[in-house]
Amino acid sequence: MHDLLLRAGAPLSGALDVPGDKSISHRAVLLALLADGPCRATGWLDCADTRSSLAAALALGASAAFEHGVLTLTPPPAPPRDDLVLDCGNSGTTARLLLGLLAAWLKPGGPAVTLDGDASLRTRPMARVVEPLRRMGADLSWAGNEGRLPVTVRGAPMRGCTHDLAVASAQVKSALLLAGLGATGITTVRGAAGSRDHTERMLRGMGASSSEPCGSPSVSGPRRLPAFTLAVPGDPSSAAFFQAAAAIIPGSDVTVRGQSLNPTRTGALAVLQHAGALVDLVVQDAAGEVAADAGEPTGSVRVRGRSRIAFAIERPQVPALVDEIPVLAVLATQCAGRSTISGAAELRVKESDRLALLARNLRRLGAAVAERDDGLVIDGPCVLRGGTRDEPLVLETAGDHRIAMAMAVAALITEGETALDDGACVAVSFPGFHEVMECLLGPGAQRRP
Ligand code: S3P
Repeated sequence: MHDLLLRAGAPLSGALDVPGDKSISHRAVLLALLADGPCRATGWLDCADTRSSLAAALALGASAAFEHGVLTLTPPPAPPRDDLVLDCGNSGTTARLLLGLLAAWLKPGGPAVTLDGDASLRTRPMARVVEPLRRMGADLSWAGNEGRLPVTVRGAPMRGCTHDLAVASAQVKSALLLAGLGATGITTVRGAAGSRDHTERMLRGMGASSSEPCGSPSVSGPRRLPAFTLAVPGDPSSAAFFQAAAAIIPGSDVTVRGQSLNPTRTGALAVLQHAGALVDLVVQDAAGEVAADAGEPTGSVRVRGRSRIAFAIERPQVPALVDEIPVLAVLATQCAGRSTISGAAELRVKESDRLALLARNLRRLGAAVAERDDGLVIDGPCVLRGGTRDEPLVLETAGDHRIAMAMAVAALITEGETALDDGACVAVSFPGFHEVMECLLGPGAQRRP
């Protein structure tokens, strides 16, 4: 028996905090491995994905304590002395950033570390990181299928170089910058314009990174990092599910407090505005702890649902909303006119093939969705229809957290009953998502008795 998803009985209304940013929480752990002393991250996100990074750090010899949202991590005194296998679980960020970090940190001639992951992570492309790292001298070998995890890393002398990325990926960019910290000379990463810049912001705060005039980040190595303290802001990608829900249901009024307003992450808010929602930002100062802070602008975002007008998302916009496309596709089903999402082929190699899964699920709900190689075309508005209490329409997640949460938003406005084949997978990035949604819906929510 699957748990039924909630339906909204009334417009959404309320103010909420969302959990800490996942990308910054991963980086807090991984950069601390290279630091000179104990590091602290307040508001650290405790979820399945960040636990993969933390478990890897502990296996590599770090020690850590986590209390009241504060993670303290003491880096290992030296690289490991024995061969290790690290399980990155479902987390692409853990696997890709560690490939870069380990390639330059392990001792040449010393033990090997093999990175592996779950069935989904084993299907995701790794050559995009492995090939540029090899150009820096990295010793990386495919331990299973070519181009995929598991990958074995051995220490090797590394030299800095200039990379021109084919994919505007923050994970690849960050892996190369982490490798650059352990390599001799200057490492510069070009071609990732518009992708999230948390690694550069953190490194800049520590005096360890600069930018070329055109904005491409550079590091010079070899060097270690100073011990740091940072405050992790709320995750805009988690906030987006509630903000899109507010835009979908006219009359809603939802405020998310303390989220990152980093411009490389707020592309979805511009789409909500374009689609007719009222979006108000109240910017606070960069999240305010001393020393090397995350350097993120933060603030509150109020979204009020009004009209719903079709929108277009094109390639240049994609990096700043790449993880929000699933829920924006749900919004598109309720907008008047034809919405298009293009230049988003990367969605096919995320935790699932998100374009295929979105098209299948939304069509089963009755939406008019055409799938393209690099996007979706959605005609709206249309009425979404589920099943009955005894036979709900069960939506497919493939264990992908963002598909699960996007479908939970679709369920709010679906006539009839819907369920997820795996509601628990939201814990990859947002444990407690269903409960927060229930609070926001209030007593008007209709659910199984
Ligand atoms: C992430 C970058 C994005 C994003 C992922 C997290 C990161 O991937 O989709 O969820 O933390 O760097 P790419 O930039 O590699 O596409």
